[in-house]
Amino acid sequence: MFESVPVSVPAPGKTTLDSMLPTSILPTVIPVAPGLSGAPDLPIVPIIPTPHATAAVRNLLYIAQAPNEALVTYLKSLGWKVSAGSLATQASVLKTDTPVAGIVDMTSFSARELTALEPALRHQRAGWIALTDDTHLADPVVCHLIRHFCFDFVKGPFSHATIGYLVDHAYGMVSLGDIDLADTPTVFGDEQMVGTCEAMQQLFRTIRKVANTDANVFITGESGTGKELTAVAIHERSPRRKGPFVAINCGAIGNHLIQSELFGYERGAFTGANQRKIGRVEEADGGTLFLDEIGDLPLDSQVHLLRFLQERKIDRLGGHDPIAVNVRIISATHIDLEAAMAAGRFRTDLFHRLCVLRVDEPPLRARGKDIEILALHVLHKFRSDGRRKIVGFAPSAIEAMYSYAWTGNVREMINRVRRAIVMAENKLITADDLGLGHCTGIESTTLAAARDAAEKRAIELTLLRHRHRLAEAAAELGISRVTLYRLMVAHGLRGAAMVTGADA
Ligand SMILES: Nc1ncnc2c1ncn2[C@@H]1O[C@H](COP(=O)(O)OP(=O)(O)O)[C@@H](O)[C@H]1O
Ligand SMILES: [Mg+2]
Repeated sequence: MFESVPVSVPAPGKTTLDSMLPTSILPTVIPVAPGLSGAPDLPIVPIIPTPHATAAVRNLLYIAQAPNEALVTYLKSLGWKVSAGSLATQASVLKTDTPVAGIVDMTSFSARELTALEPALRHQRAGWIALTDDTHLADPVVCHLIRHFCFDFVKGPFSHATIGYLVDHAYGMVSLGDIDLADTPTVFGDEQMVGTCEAMQQLFRTIRKVANTDANVFITGESGTGKELTAVAIHERSPRRKGPFVAINCGAIGNHLIQSELFGYERGAFTGANQRKIGRVEEADGGTLFLDEIGDLPLDSQVHLLRFLQERKIDRLGGHDPIAVNVRIISATHIDLEAAMAAGRFRTDLFHRLCVLRVDEPPLRARGKDIEILALHVLHKFRSDGRRKIVGFAPSAIEAMYSYAWTGNVREMINRVRRAIVMAENKLITADDLGLGHCTGIESTTLAAARDAAEKRAIELTLLRHRHRLAEAAAELGISRVTLYRLMVAHGLRGAAMVTGADA
């Protein structure tokens, strides 16, 4: 209630997660949505309009059996555009896409009527204040509605000034979330690609440049960093955008099947080949073929793929005449292909054919503030999955998101936030809801150890951001290259740098 003053300021957090897209269940054909493919550039647009654009009118919905006229007059004098009355007559206020402050007079409704108000109270753009009394507070339905859907409550006798203060606050809270989201740049209509940090901006620039050529592209990055999303982005901005985008996961198909899957077969080519099957390469004719997890392609298939890349013709199994196919190949892997080549598991000549242009996906832990932006983006996208109205992330969650390593990257972020949306007990997602309770808390430590850890982390992240280009990283850190090298050795980062560098 009011004595406790509303406190739940949604931290400016943002996140990511990905279990819902069947992108890795391959083989997959992703048809290109015609409406998305026209733009030659990657538009950086806000997910939703900023609240400032519509801030002139501040709507206030006051739901009561008999609205208090004096209160309405007072609220109007504060500049609110007040819509007072039953929900049935005033619901249109909630249909706009702008923030709305709400007052619900719970003393004037029965428990059943109140339950019927739940969808309105759940509305993501409305910030509610409940007017109630001790009798109603004894009712579990009322408590449930207040706890999960209202910013605060006031017990009678009601002070107009208190209500005026609280609605202002509730309105500010719902607008706050939008300001955070408005910072979030995106790439697609359906599939938004979030990224504001320098590494992501660099990636967007690379995507634009690469899309304009027809050369083969090789994408590296840890699992879940957005390699497939990038491949689709390149295709959709390329001159081939009207053609098909065909994705195949080379790691998900058994060795014996991969050739027929890639190149197809003629009827009668082998026992059970009852009819002709067109392979994935041929399916992609005129478009883009995305070979995911190319590092898992068996050596004999590598030979066939290489021959195709040289001759631009395929042979269906059991076929007689080679068939010309015109595809652009984008390949991706999360493994260290240089190491695979050194070990003889991947053909160097094939690699050079595939890797004409190279795109590196930065790991999530190196994206700084984008960690929060992505978290909020995912929350915005999926928050209607939850039973409760979730307005943001608690400080513990933000802290945990920054200290966690995110080895599963954006995909893991999406999974954790989606789970948290369902599991959260309150309006703010906590570190525990994210399953990251262990990443918070001030550990007792000496100042020297804290400095040491901070130094290591700063170096690690700077190296990641600069793709292990030591001169650039040293310049950003304000130290010499020699000093950086010495510190990397001291912190045990040299080995890691070399491994990641090769992979990147
Ligand atoms: N920058 C991003 N912004 C928003 N969502 C992203 C971003 N990068 C990846 N995702 C999402 O994360 C998930 C994993 O991306 P994906 O391209 O499949 O990763 P990878 O192929 O590298 O494993 C997908 O659901 C994708 O839409
Ligand atoms: Mg993938």
